[in-house]
Amino acid sequence: MKKKVSKVLAVVLAALILFVTGCNSQPSSSGTTSGGADAGAASGADTASAAKKKVGVSMPTKSLQRWNQDGENMKSSLEAAGYEVDLQYGGENEIPLQVSQIENMISSGCEVLVIAAIDGESLTEVLANAKANNIPVIAYDRLIMNTDAVTYYATFDNWKVGTMQGEYLKRVLDLDNAAGPFNIEFFTGDPGDNNINFFFDGAMSVLQPYLDSGKLVCPSGQTEKLTVATEGWSSERSQSRMENLISSNGYSPSGTKLDAVMCSNDSTAQGVTTALTNAGYTKDNFPYITGQDCDIVSVKNMIAGTQSMSVFKDTRTLANKVVEMVDAILKGSEPPVNDNETYDNGTGIIPSYLCDPVEGSAANYRELLIDTGYYKEEDVIG
Ligand code: GAL
Repeated sequence: MKKKVSKVLAVVLAALILFVTGCNSQPSSSGTTSGGADAGAASGADTASAAKKKVGVSMPTKSLQRWNQDGENMKSSLEAAGYEVDLQYGGENEIPLQVSQIENMISSGCEVLVIAAIDGESLTEVLANAKANNIPVIAYDRLIMNTDAVTYYATFDNWKVGTMQGEYLKRVLDLDNAAGPFNIEFFTGDPGDNNINFFFDGAMSVLQPYLDSGKLVCPSGQTEKLTVATEGWSSERSQSRMENLISSNGYSPSGTKLDAVMCSNDSTAQGVTTALTNAGYTKDNFPYITGQDCDIVSVKNMIAGTQSMSVFKDTRTLANKVVEMVDAILKGSEPPVNDNETYDNGTGIIPSYLCDPVEGSAANYRELLIDTGYYKEEDVIG
């Protein structure tokens, strides 16, 4: 019996030693996942005192690939910089859950909040509480609207994302030279996501003149942002809307020609691709379809010829920028900002950092995504 007790004690002691040494080595032992390397550099040397500070990271959903990636990148990058991280996902776009998670982050002592909102309008109350507790808030990727609690905004150049999609279609359809007319349909994202005002309006800034001149025709007549919005950016919803468009307009490889579908992102593009594939389209007659994010499924579709392009937004770059922001805020220095005029959340301009999006397609996915270590070849092949 005595022997047993001392054996247990020894195991507990060993576990304790392991735990203590593990804690001490934390700042240098992390940073192995993508996005970690630069974050370590951003942290500066003062990781010991920062180690006790806790950062809340609130992501909108587990159901789309990009947010899982964003969350993981943020967590590993912040940990590499010496911070404790409370990472939460709002289930499957569940607004009350996100609100209560943020509430918990505030009451459990997070010193900065990084939030990608499910809905830009639903956080006013909880963020008033953050402000009352002097907790700075960084809006991550999506601007949080109508609250003066947002301190900084880090995102990609969302207008540019939209214009890249429009310019792509203009280029492949050769809208300035070809006779046309070309048939096109439109899909954008969640109506509560402020980003669609930039994605959709940006794309339309390029395409509207061709709709006006008749070079582009939208047979369904559905060209208004809120009419073509997709709740929750859901692939199922975009698939069923595309199915309706197919039956009501008679689109098919042998029927009414569909030349292009402007989709604001990959999850909506994937639903459209599924509907068109089910309707008999093959890579030889597929309409041009745009997207955004370079999701694994969409990269596969691009390689298979059932999506034409995507916009690559390297989540490692965004995560690293946000780590720099957090680090500067907590150390009392100036966070990186490169835009002071574009993003007004209804209470005034929010100082922003805009990362640069890049066009992705079957032609360049290897150098863009594989060579940079974003994906492994086997992730996107087969
Ligand atoms: C947007 C984001 C896009 C896309 C979409 C759906 O706010 O900027 O990259 O992922 O949400 O999650």
